[in-house]
Parts: sequence; C-alpha cells; structure tokens
Amino acid sequence: MHLVVAVVGAGPSGVYAAEALTRRSRSEDLDVRVAVLDRLPVPFGLVRYGVAPDHPSIRSIRGTLERTLDAAGVTFYGDVQVGRDLSVEELRASVDAVVYAYGAGSDRRLGIPGEDLPGSVAAPELVTWYTGHPDVHPDDGSAAAGHPWVPGLLSTAREVVVVGAGNVALDVVRVLVRGVDELAATDMPDEVLAALGSRTVTDVHVLARRGPAYTAFTTKELRELGELDDLDVVLDPADLVLDESSRLVAETDRVAARNLAVMAEWAQRPTGGARHRVHLHFWTSPLGVAGTDRVEGVQVTRSAIDAEGLVRPVGDAWTIPAQLVVRAVGYRGLRLAGVPYDERTGRIPHSEGRVIRDGAFSTGEYVTGWIKRGPTGVIGTNRSDAVETVASLLDDVEVGTLQPSASPEALSGLLAGRGLHPLGMPEWHRIDAAEIARGQEHGRPRTTLAHRGELLAAADEQPPG
Ligand SMILES: Cc1cc2nc3c(=O)[nH]c(=O)nc-3n(C[C@H](O)[C@H](O)[C@H](O)COP(=O)(O)OP(=O)(O)OC[C@H]3O[C@@H](n4cnc5c(N)ncnc54)[C@H](O)[C@@H]3O)c2cc1C
Ligand SMILES: NC(=O)c1ccc[n+]([C@@H]2O[C@H](COP(=O)([O-])OP(=O)(O)OC[C@H]3O[C@@H](n4cnc5c(N)ncnc54)[C@H](OP(=O)(O)O)[C@@H]3O)[C@@H](O)[C@H]2O)c1
Repeated sequence: MHLVVAVVGAGPSGVYAAEALTRRSRSEDLDVRVAVLDRLPVPFGLVRYGVAPDHPSIRSIRGTLERTLDAAGVTFYGDVQVGRDLSVEELRASVDAVVYAYGAGSDRRLGIPGEDLPGSVAAPELVTWYTGHPDVHPDDGSAAAGHPWVPGLLSTAREVVVVGAGNVALDVVRVLVRGVDELAATDMPDEVLAALGSRTVTDVHVLARRGPAYTAFTTKELRELGELDDLDVVLDPADLVLDESSRLVAETDRVAARNLAVMAEWAQRPTGGARHRVHLHFWTSPLGVAGTDRVEGVQVTRSAIDAEGLVRPVGDAWTIPAQLVVRAVGYRGLRLAGVPYDERTGRIPHSEGRVIRDGAFSTGEYVTGWIKRGPTGVIGTNRSDAVETVASLLDDVEVGTLQPSASPEALSGLLAGRGLHPLGMPEWHRIDAAEIARGQEHGRPRTTLAHRGELLAAADEQPPG
C-alpha cells in the first residue's frame, strides 16, 4: 500500500518527520513516499539560516538531515512556497496527509515606544543577514524592499543593547565582538565578513528582565562567552546574591545552578583593558528606545517578580546609551492561509501532532516542530517531537481514520502544471560543492552563497567532465 505524505518545511522538524516516516516504512508493509517542500531553494531551515556560523559542529547536523533527504522514498522540492505557489487545499488534495513543519517565521515584539526607530532591529533580521539568507541583501542587510542598515550600523555603533537573556542573544553578542580572524574560519558570506571587519562596537549591554537564576542560556553557550578573546564580562556581584525564589530555582534546576556557578566565577575576575566589554544587566527591563530620528539609547528600569509571578518595573528609570538595539526576545509562528492557527500562542492547535480544525481532529493534517510547540527547544528536541507526530499519523492509517488513496505522482504533476521548477537534492549537492569551492578559493572551509541568483546559478551548473 502507498502512503503519500507532504511535509511543509525542510528544517529539522520536517526532515525528522521524513526520517520517522521512512523508518516505519522499511519495517512495515507500507510504501511511504515523502515530499518535503520548502519555500527556500535549499533545505535545513534554521540549521543553515539560524545556527551561529561560529558553531560549525552544530551546523554540521546538516549532514544527517541531508542523508534523510537523499534517501529512497523522500523527494525534496525546494523553492516552493505553500500558500503562494500552491494553496494548502491543493496540496491536501494531492497527497494522503500533510505535516506542517514550517517553523516560527517572525519575531516577538517588545511593545515599547521607539521600538521601530532606525537602529532598533529584531535578532532574526541580524541572524538572517549574517547567515546569508536569500531574502536579505548581503551587501546592505536590507530585505528586497527594506532599508539598508546592517553594515552602516555596525560601522558606526560603539554601544549596543541586546534585549533578552537566551541563546540567540548570546549568538548575537558573539557575532558583535568576535575577532574577524575567527569569523573568517566560518562559512559566513564574503559580504558579511567584509562588513564585520569594519565594526566599531566596543560595549554590548545584555538586558535580562529577571535575575541570573532565570536566564534561558544553556551553560555551554554561556561559558563560551567568558572564553572569548580580549573581552571582559561585566556584572554586578550584588545580582548574584539570590533572593528566596531564585534560591529555590537554583536548588531545583541544574542548568540554573551551573549558570550561576559560571557567573560567580566571572564576578571574581579582574576586569579592565580588554577591547570589548559585555555587560550583563539583571533585573533590568526596557521601557522605551530613546532617540529622535535614530536610536540613541534604551530607557530601562529595575524589575522584580510580583506575587502573581509577573515581571514588574520597580524604581527609577535610567538610560543606557546605544546606537544599535537588538531585540532577542524570541520568535513567533505565523499564520499560513488555510491552516488553523491560534493567534494567542502563534501555533497550530493540535493533540499529539494531530491538527485540530473547528474543534475536531482534521483528517490527514499533522504538525511538528516550532509551529507545533512554539519557538523553543534545541535541534534534537524536534526529533522526538516529529516521532510523536508520525506515530499519530501511522496509527491513524492503522485504525483506518486515514485511508491512503493518493497517487505518488499527483504532487509533482501539480507543481509541473503550475510551471514551477523546484530545486531537488541534486541541485543542493551542486550548491554545496560550489560553496565549498568558493570558500577554498580564499582559504576558508566554505562560503555561503547569499544571493538567490548565485544559489540558482550554482544549482544549474553542470559538474566538469
Ligand atoms: C538564531 C537561532 C539559532 C539557533 N541555534 C541553535 C543551536 O546552535 N543549536 C540547537 O540545537 N538549536 C538551535 N536553534 C534552535 C533550532 O534551530 C530549532 O529548534 C529548529 O530549527 C526548529 O525546527 P523547525 O523545523 O520547526 O523550524 P525551522 O528550522 O525554522 O524550519 C522551518 C522551514 O519551513 C520553511 N517554510 C516556512 N514557511 C513555508 C511555506 N509557506 N512553504 C514552504 N516552506 C516553508 C522555512 O523556509 C524553513 O526552512 C537556533 C534557533 C535560532 C532561531
Ligand atoms: N546554541 C544553542 O543551543 C542555541 C542557540 C540559539 C537558540 N537556541 C534555542 O532556540 C530557542 C529560541 O531561543 P531564543 O533566545 O530566541 O528564545 P528564549 O530561549 O525563549 O529566550 C528569550 C529571552 O527573551 C526574554 N524576553 C522575552 N520577552 C521579553 C520582554 N518583553 N522583555 C525583556 N525580555 C524578554 C526572555 O525572558 P523571560 O525568561 O523572562 O521571558 C528570555 O530571556 C531556545 O530554545 C534556545 O535554546 C539554542
């Protein structure tokens, strides 16, 4: 029996869903065909366009994802945007089941005055620029119709405020302060590397609205901050004196306890004389971004947790001077036309990965990854998440609530009928080879091709001989 499944999104969750589907297919009498669609010409989602370039071992997870996409029974359709190139209804009609794995494509906002002043950006804007996302112009960091900002800001800003105390904030801090020699060993696009070479940043202020026991950092990433060359980490030792609720957190949460130990060691270090400083401001909330026609600083106040567990401002306001503000306060899932969406959470409503539509399970619709559980969790979290979703899907086939009948050729026929030319894995392998070759020309391991045109040209290139 054939089962034809379309997965929307070729990030970790989508590829892990394909892996789980094909694994079950081998062990059972079910021929599963999986089509993985992505709006981008290349697969891997945030593994390529999120994970920090100076973390090559994490980026190399790409190799594992690649093997799944190359496997028999799996077809990658790159450069196909569901909701633009074909509707969700059309997709559903051409396959037996759809697994939504399209991640969290937007950022959370702070909701404070001045948030949109020039010089105030969301971390995803910076991240997509430095990872070479084809939606962003690598020379000036602008989206197609946006405003040039990145290199201009980086070559003038001395003080930067990063709002948020999670791992994305740490990624951003490292990109702002790491030496260009070290960054040259990454796969950053040439244009990005050149722009980072003229950075003027000396001080980065990280704002954590709660105390050091409540950060969202993982210890390995936090520790790495203190190991960067020519950098002082500045924090107020008084913040490490814990109140009762922080003590309770430190006693019950091993990551929090380890993070506190790292920070306690930093507090003992002598500071002064380093080229860069990263200031950790705990119990500090932003009230507004100051400036008339561009960012000049961030007004902040001391904050505390009230009896209901909410973070509240306490005390007077003061201003941290800054010429660049980066909001690293999390991502947010977007609505895709034709798919149920919970506006409050930014997720698709579901139970164990089965999509809930109008209060009932919707036959043949499933969800996994960040659009299922929200924008948290490391890459590996998506594997168990996808396994749960695929188990629900296959159970539904077994009990007969999902009855496969689709033709394995229907989807490719639909795309061809639209005049679309999806990029597949052969094209990805050509892009991969071109990026490695481009890097090696300059003594680098690889160089990400950041222009959409360059990606498409490399995909078309015939191998020599
Ligand atoms: C900046 C950043 C750095 C990170 N670094 C690490 C790290 O170092 N280590 C770690 O373990 N975790 C890291 N994470 C977390 C990790 O990246 C996520 O857990 C994971 O990528 C979520 O997987 P996903 O498949 O749900 O979403 P994504 O990876 O976002 O994949 C979603 C895919 O769907 C595609 N898509 C969207 N809309 C459509 C559409 N309409 N049609 C077709 N395709 C569509 C997108 O192009 C994308 O490829 C990081 C996250 C961020 C934001
Ligand atoms: N190397 C890695 O392993 C790596 C790298 C990058 C990302 N990731 C993962 O990707 C996921 C997303 O990371 P993320 O950093 O985007 O999100 P995150 O882990 O959820 O951290 C968001 C941070 O922003 C703060 N915040 C939220 N709203 C705020 C507001 N209005 N004002 C001030 N601060 C606010 C949060 O504080 P509160 O806690 O007070 O809400 C928290 O400190 C995480 O699971 C992360 O671990 C992993």
